[in-house]
Amino acid sequence: MTIPPTTSPVQGPAIHLRGLEKSYKELRVLRGVDFEVARGSIFALLGSNGAGKTTVVKILSTLLKADRGTARVNGFDVATQAAGVRESISLTGQFAAVDEILSGRENLVLVARLRHLKDPGAIADDLLRRFSLTEAGGRRVATYSGGMRRRLDIAMSLVGNPAVIFLDEPTAGLDPQARIEVWQAVRQLAEGGTTVLLTTQYLEEAEQLADRIAILHQGRIIVDGTLAELKQLLPPAKVEYVEKQPSLEDVFFAVVGEGGDTDAGSQARETTSNQQ
Ligand SMILES: Nc1ncnc2c1ncn2[C@@H]1O[C@H](COP(=O)(O)OP(=O)(O)OP(=O)(O)O)[C@@H](O)[C@H]1O
Ligand SMILES: [Mg+2]
Repeated sequence: MTIPPTTSPVQGPAIHLRGLEKSYKELRVLRGVDFEVARGSIFALLGSNGAGKTTVVKILSTLLKADRGTARVNGFDVATQAAGVRESISLTGQFAAVDEILSGRENLVLVARLRHLKDPGAIADDLLRRFSLTEAGGRRVATYSGGMRRRLDIAMSLVGNPAVIFLDEPTAGLDPQARIEVWQAVRQLAEGGTTVLLTTQYLEEAEQLADRIAILHQGRIIVDGTLAELKQLLPPAKVEYVEKQPSLEDVFFAVVGEGGDTDAGSQARETTSNQQ
Protein backbone atom coordinates (compact mmCIF):
# COMPACT_ATOMS: atom_id res chain seq x y z
CA MET A 1 0.00 0.00 0.00
CA THR A 2 1.31 3.43 -0.83
CA ILE A 3 0.70 6.16 1.64
CA PRO A 4 -0.51 9.31 -0.07
CA PRO A 5 1.94 12.15 0.50
CA THR A 6 0.66 14.72 2.93
CA THR A 7 2.72 17.29 1.11
CA SER A 8 0.57 17.22 -2.03
CA PRO A 9 1.01 20.53 -3.81
CA VAL A 10 -1.79 22.91 -3.01
CA GLN A 11 -1.74 26.29 -4.66
CA GLY A 12 -1.36 29.50 -2.71
CA PRO A 13 0.50 30.32 0.48
CA ALA A 14 1.14 27.58 3.03
CA ILE A 15 -0.48 29.65 5.76
CA HIS A 16 -3.04 32.39 5.34
CA LEU A 17 -4.75 34.34 8.13
CA ARG A 18 -7.36 37.06 7.80
CA GLY A 19 -8.97 39.06 10.57
CA LEU A 20 -8.27 36.47 13.23
CA GLU A 21 -9.76 37.38 16.61
CA LYS A 22 -9.62 35.53 19.91
CA SER A 23 -10.57 36.48 23.45
CA TYR A 24 -10.21 34.56 26.69
CA LYS A 25 -13.31 35.87 28.50
CA GLU A 26 -12.70 39.62 28.82
CA LEU A 27 -9.12 39.46 27.59
CA ARG A 28 -8.94 40.33 23.90
CA VAL A 29 -5.72 38.64 22.83
CA LEU A 30 -6.02 38.69 19.03
CA ARG A 31 -7.81 41.69 17.56
CA GLY A 32 -7.60 41.04 13.83
CA VAL A 33 -4.42 39.21 12.86
CA ASP A 34 -3.48 38.99 9.17
CA PHE A 35 -0.44 37.40 7.59
CA GLU A 36 0.66 34.93 4.95
CA VAL A 37 3.52 32.46 4.85
CA ALA A 38 4.94 31.36 1.49
CA ARG A 39 5.60 27.67 0.88
CA GLY A 40 9.07 26.50 1.81
CA SER A 41 9.88 29.68 3.74
CA ILE A 42 10.69 30.38 7.38
CA PHE A 43 8.38 32.87 9.06
CA ALA A 44 9.11 34.22 12.54
CA LEU A 45 6.33 35.51 14.74
CA LEU A 46 7.83 37.80 17.34
CA GLY A 47 6.18 39.29 20.37
CA SER A 48 6.58 39.98 24.05
CA ASN A 49 5.33 37.59 26.74
CA GLY A 50 1.58 37.27 26.48
CA ALA A 51 1.36 38.89 23.04
CA GLY A 52 -0.63 35.91 21.73
CA LYS A 53 1.97 33.95 19.74
CA THR A 54 1.05 30.57 21.20
CA THR A 55 -2.63 31.43 20.75
CA VAL A 56 -2.01 31.95 17.01
CA VAL A 57 -0.11 28.65 16.79
CA LYS A 58 -2.89 26.81 18.66
CA ILE A 59 -5.53 28.16 16.29
CA LEU A 60 -3.44 27.24 13.23
CA SER A 61 -2.92 23.73 14.56
CA THR A 62 -6.68 23.32 15.32
CA LEU A 63 -6.17 23.04 19.08
CA LEU A 64 -8.20 26.19 19.66
CA LYS A 65 -11.05 27.87 17.77
CA ALA A 66 -10.89 31.50 16.72
CA ASP A 67 -13.84 33.78 17.56
CA ARG A 68 -13.73 35.52 14.19
CA GLY A 69 -11.71 35.54 10.98
CA THR A 70 -10.33 32.80 8.77
CA ALA A 71 -7.16 30.76 8.70
CA ARG A 72 -6.00 28.28 6.09
CA VAL A 73 -3.07 25.89 6.40
CA ASN A 74 -1.84 23.99 3.33
CA GLY A 75 -5.07 25.01 1.61
CA PHE A 76 -7.32 23.66 4.38
CA ASP A 77 -9.60 25.82 6.50
CA VAL A 78 -8.80 25.35 10.21
CA ALA A 79 -12.45 25.62 11.21
CA THR A 80 -14.12 23.42 8.58
CA GLN A 81 -11.31 21.13 7.37
CA ALA A 82 -9.47 20.37 10.61
CA ALA A 83 -8.55 16.82 9.55
CA GLY A 84 -6.81 18.13 6.41
CA VAL A 85 -4.92 20.67 8.50
CA ARG A 86 -3.81 18.02 11.01
CA GLU A 87 -2.49 15.78 8.25
CA SER A 88 -0.47 18.69 6.88
CA ILE A 89 1.23 19.89 10.05
CA SER A 90 3.31 19.05 13.03
CA LEU A 91 3.68 21.07 16.19
CA THR A 92 6.70 21.23 18.48
CA GLY A 93 6.03 22.95 21.76
CA GLN A 94 8.43 24.58 24.16
CA PHE A 95 9.26 21.45 26.14
CA ALA A 96 10.77 18.49 24.35
CA ALA A 97 8.21 15.70 24.08
CA VAL A 98 10.73 12.88 23.91
CA ASP A 99 10.76 9.72 26.01
CA GLU A 100 13.90 9.71 28.17
CA ILE A 101 13.99 5.96 28.75
CA LEU A 102 14.07 5.14 25.05
CA SER A 103 16.97 5.79 22.71
CA GLY A 104 16.72 8.52 20.08
CA ARG A 105 16.21 5.90 17.40
CA GLU A 106 13.49 4.12 19.41
CA ASN A 107 11.63 7.41 19.86
CA LEU A 108 11.62 7.95 16.11
CA VAL A 109 10.58 4.38 15.34
CA LEU A 110 7.75 4.69 17.85
CA VAL A 111 6.34 7.80 16.17
CA ALA A 112 6.65 6.23 12.71
CA ARG A 113 4.74 3.15 13.97
CA LEU A 114 2.05 5.31 15.54
CA ARG A 115 1.62 7.00 12.19
CA HIS A 116 1.37 3.61 10.44
CA LEU A 117 4.29 4.34 8.14
CA LYS A 118 6.12 1.68 6.17
CA ASP A 119 9.67 0.83 7.27
CA PRO A 120 9.92 2.81 10.54
CA GLY A 121 13.57 1.80 10.98
CA ALA A 122 14.63 3.38 7.70
CA ILE A 123 12.65 6.53 8.48
CA ALA A 124 14.37 6.74 11.89
CA ASP A 125 17.86 6.24 10.43
CA ASP A 126 17.26 8.87 7.76
CA LEU A 127 16.13 11.45 10.33
CA LEU A 128 19.00 10.63 12.70
CA ARG A 129 21.40 11.29 9.85
CA ARG A 130 19.73 14.55 8.85
CA PHE A 131 19.94 15.86 12.40
CA SER A 132 23.50 14.62 13.05
CA LEU A 133 22.28 12.17 15.68
CA THR A 134 23.41 8.91 14.07
CA GLU A 135 26.11 8.23 16.65
CA ALA A 136 23.88 9.14 19.59
CA GLY A 137 20.88 7.30 18.10
CA GLY A 138 21.40 4.12 20.12
CA ARG A 139 21.81 5.93 23.45
CA ARG A 140 19.06 6.68 25.94
CA VAL A 141 17.69 10.19 25.53
CA ALA A 142 18.34 10.76 29.26
CA THR A 143 22.04 11.11 28.32
CA TYR A 144 21.43 13.76 25.61
CA SER A 145 22.24 17.45 25.94
CA GLY A 146 19.45 20.03 25.65
CA GLY A 147 20.38 20.78 22.04
CA MET A 148 20.36 17.09 21.10
CA ARG A 149 16.95 16.60 22.70
CA ARG A 150 15.57 19.58 20.89
CA ARG A 151 16.93 18.32 17.55
CA LEU A 152 15.42 14.92 18.24
CA ASP A 153 12.12 16.59 19.09
CA ILE A 154 12.14 18.43 15.77
CA ALA A 155 13.16 15.23 13.95
CA MET A 156 10.20 13.44 15.56
CA SER A 157 7.83 16.09 14.31
CA LEU A 158 9.10 15.44 10.78
CA VAL A 159 8.12 11.78 10.70
CA GLY A 160 5.64 11.48 7.84
CA ASN A 161 6.89 14.62 6.06
CA PRO A 162 4.40 17.27 7.14
CA ALA A 163 4.16 20.20 4.74
CA VAL A 164 4.06 22.77 7.53
CA ILE A 165 5.81 22.72 10.88
CA PHE A 166 5.08 24.97 13.84
CA LEU A 167 7.91 25.53 16.29
CA ASP A 168 6.77 27.36 19.40
CA GLU A 169 9.91 28.88 20.93
CA PRO A 170 12.19 26.13 19.63
CA THR A 171 15.30 27.32 21.46
CA ALA A 172 13.84 28.57 24.75
CA GLY A 173 16.26 27.75 27.54
CA LEU A 174 19.05 26.48 25.30
CA ASP A 175 22.63 27.71 25.52
CA PRO A 176 24.14 29.53 22.52
CA GLN A 177 25.81 26.41 21.12
CA ALA A 178 22.64 24.32 21.34
CA ARG A 179 20.69 27.19 19.81
CA ILE A 180 23.01 27.21 16.79
CA GLU A 181 22.51 23.46 16.38
CA VAL A 182 18.75 23.91 16.34
CA TRP A 183 19.04 26.80 13.88
CA GLN A 184 20.96 24.54 11.50
CA ALA A 185 18.24 21.91 11.80
CA VAL A 186 15.53 24.48 11.07
CA ARG A 187 17.41 25.79 8.02
CA GLN A 188 17.65 22.26 6.68
CA LEU A 189 13.89 21.89 7.00
CA ALA A 190 13.21 24.88 4.83
CA GLU A 191 15.84 23.78 2.31
CA GLY A 192 13.92 20.50 2.04
CA GLY A 193 10.75 22.43 1.14
CA THR A 194 9.01 22.39 4.53
CA THR A 195 7.26 25.59 5.55
CA VAL A 196 8.30 26.68 9.03
CA LEU A 197 6.42 29.04 11.32
CA LEU A 198 8.36 29.70 14.48
CA THR A 199 7.63 31.90 17.44
CA THR A 200 10.45 33.42 19.37
CA GLN A 201 11.40 36.08 21.83
CA TYR A 202 15.01 35.96 20.70
CA LEU A 203 15.28 38.70 18.16
CA GLU A 204 18.58 37.32 16.96
CA GLU A 205 16.87 34.04 16.18
CA ALA A 206 14.44 35.74 13.82
CA GLU A 207 17.30 37.71 12.34
CA GLN A 208 19.33 34.55 11.71
CA LEU A 209 16.61 32.28 10.40
CA ALA A 210 13.57 33.96 9.03
CA ASP A 211 12.75 34.92 5.45
CA ARG A 212 9.97 37.09 6.87
CA ILE A 213 9.38 38.47 10.32
CA ALA A 214 6.12 39.69 11.85
CA ILE A 215 5.72 41.43 15.17
CA LEU A 216 2.52 40.74 17.11
CA HIS A 217 1.68 43.56 19.48
CA GLN A 218 -1.57 44.47 21.25
CA GLY A 219 -3.50 41.92 19.26
CA ARG A 220 -2.35 42.89 15.79
CA ILE A 221 0.57 42.43 13.43
CA ILE A 222 2.23 45.81 13.56
CA VAL A 223 5.14 45.00 11.25
CA ASP A 224 5.53 42.27 8.63
CA GLY A 225 8.42 42.10 6.21
CA THR A 226 11.86 40.83 5.40
CA LEU A 227 14.72 41.74 7.71
CA ALA A 228 15.91 44.31 5.16
CA GLU A 229 12.42 45.86 4.99
CA LEU A 230 12.19 46.01 8.77
CA LYS A 231 15.55 47.70 9.06
CA GLN A 232 14.39 50.38 6.63
CA LEU A 233 11.78 51.41 9.19
CA LEU A 234 14.54 53.06 11.15
CA PRO A 235 16.59 56.02 9.96
CA PRO A 236 19.78 55.04 8.12
CA ALA A 237 22.84 54.05 10.08
CA LYS A 238 24.34 56.82 12.18
CA VAL A 239 28.02 57.50 11.76
CA GLU A 240 29.68 58.03 15.08
CA TYR A 241 33.02 56.33 15.60
CA VAL A 242 31.84 53.29 13.70
CA GLU A 243 28.86 52.80 11.43
CA LYS A 244 26.13 50.85 13.21
CA GLN A 245 23.31 49.22 11.25
CA PRO A 246 20.08 48.96 13.23
CA SER A 247 19.63 45.45 14.57
CA LEU A 248 16.25 43.78 14.57
CA GLU A 249 16.26 44.45 18.31
CA ASP A 250 16.45 48.20 17.64
CA VAL A 251 13.53 47.91 15.20
CA PHE A 252 11.55 45.84 17.70
CA PHE A 253 11.90 48.34 20.51
CA ALA A 254 11.25 51.25 18.17
CA VAL A 255 7.94 49.82 16.94
CA VAL A 256 6.82 48.22 20.19
CA GLY A 257 7.82 51.33 22.11
CA GLU A 258 6.62 51.39 25.65
CA GLY A 259 6.35 47.56 25.96
CA GLY A 260 10.10 47.16 25.84
CA ASP A 261 10.94 49.86 28.33
CA THR A 262 11.51 47.65 31.33
CA ASP A 263 14.71 47.79 33.32
CA ALA A 264 15.59 44.32 32.13
CA GLY A 265 14.97 45.37 28.54
CA SER A 266 17.17 48.44 28.71
CA GLN A 267 19.89 46.52 30.47
CA ALA A 268 19.78 43.90 27.76
CA ARG A 269 20.05 46.59 25.12
CA GLU A 270 22.98 48.20 26.83
CA THR A 271 24.74 44.88 27.00
CA THR A 272 24.02 44.27 23.35
CA SER A 273 25.27 47.65 22.23
CA ASN A 274 28.37 47.30 24.37
CA GLN A 275 29.15 44.10 22.58
CA GLN A 276 28.96 45.69 19.15
N1 LIG B 1 -6.47 29.26 28.24
C1 LIG B 1 -6.33 30.53 28.60
N2 LIG B 1 -7.22 31.13 29.41
C2 LIG B 1 -7.11 32.42 29.75
N3 LIG B 1 -6.12 33.24 29.32
C3 LIG B 1 -5.20 32.71 28.50
C4 LIG B 1 -5.26 31.33 28.09
N4 LIG B 1 -4.21 31.09 27.27
C5 LIG B 1 -3.53 32.24 27.17
N5 LIG B 1 -4.12 33.22 27.90
C6 LIG B 1 -3.68 34.62 28.01
O1 LIG B 1 -3.65 35.15 26.68
C7 LIG B 1 -2.52 35.99 26.49
C8 LIG B 1 -1.72 35.46 25.32
O2 LIG B 1 -1.15 34.21 25.67
P1 LIG B 1 -0.16 33.43 24.69
O3 LIG B 1 0.22 32.20 25.40
O4 LIG B 1 -0.80 33.27 23.35
O5 LIG B 1 1.05 34.46 24.58
P2 LIG B 1 2.52 34.25 24.01
O6 LIG B 1 2.78 35.38 23.07
O7 LIG B 1 2.68 32.87 23.50
O8 LIG B 1 3.39 34.46 25.33
P3 LIG B 1 4.81 33.79 25.76
O9 LIG B 1 5.85 34.57 25.04
O10 LIG B 1 4.86 34.04 27.24
O11 LIG B 1 4.78 32.34 25.40
C9 LIG B 1 -1.78 35.99 27.81
O12 LIG B 1 -2.18 37.14 28.53
C10 LIG B 1 -2.27 34.75 28.51
O13 LIG B 1 -2.24 34.91 29.90
MG1 LIG C 1 3.90 31.25 24.00
